[in-house]
Amino acid sequence: MKKTALYDLKKFQKEIWSYYRAHGRHDMPWRKTASPYRIVVSEVMLQQTQVGRVTLKYKEFIKRFPNFSALAHAPLSDVLSAWQGLGYNRRALFLKKLAEVVVGKYKGKLPQDPEVFHTLPGIGKATAGSIAAFAFNHPSVFIETNIRRVFIHFFFPRSKKVSDDAIMRLVAEAVDRKNPREWYFALMDYGTMLAVQEKENPNRKSAHYVKQKPFTGSDRQVRGKIVVLLVKKKSLTVRAVAQQTHEPVERIEKIFAQLEKEGFVRCRGKTFYIVS
Ligand code: ADE
Repeated sequence: MKKTALYDLKKFQKEIWSYYRAHGRHDMPWRKTASPYRIVVSEVMLQQTQVGRVTLKYKEFIKRFPNFSALAHAPLSDVLSAWQGLGYNRRALFLKKLAEVVVGKYKGKLPQDPEVFHTLPGIGKATAGSIAAFAFNHPSVFIETNIRRVFIHFFFPRSKKVSDDAIMRLVAEAVDRKNPREWYFALMDYGTMLAVQEKENPNRKSAHYVKQKPFTGSDRQVRGKIVVLLVKKKSLTVRAVAQQTHEPVERIEKIFAQLEKEGFVRCRGKTFYIVS
């Protein structure tokens, strides 16, 4: 394989490890476990929610649903209720479906084959890679936002647009084959440090950078309100929701249709029921 001359790979690895030795964040609860279940839960939570917010919710969630079987057999409304505060509640539905697959198809044990992971509900390439590394110490090759930031910082400091393909080649070259689990912890910690430290987010230079849309007034916000109501009441009419949220009936109908398509709710007559 062609080696990069942009920045010495050995020097890069040394720098990352040295930062990790001094500043590694060892207190995250999901870093102290090798349980595939706990690692799956944490990685799904961490997909779109920050570490601080996840930490508390993660502990409660694990207590309430200690393994794949408990999660698979729990009512969806309990799972959604434990998910409150994390946002993007579609992930809770995916996680429950994932648990059902693990119980139904794999006897309640997550298979060690990373190829299987992204066939599971809600698991994209990056999460499949992180689960393989963190649960099985597998030298997978993946990027997420912090890892991307680190590679752009070291290897593409002056580029305007950097493709994930170009970054992935370097990630593959750099991965520590003896200890991929901690290597990726170290990369994530370094990436988080850069985000705090740097004025301009280097991820803006990623060809895949998407600015977060504002939450206030978004469908996502209204949807979040509907899910809170559903967890409380178990069933709702469009009219009641429109009244309570002060949103037009058409908007509520549209969001309910989406929730139904995704498998959150079932519709009977004018009423929507949370699936159980
Ligand atoms: N440690 C393990 N997984 C992590 C993640 N997704 N983000 C930050 N730290 C982590």
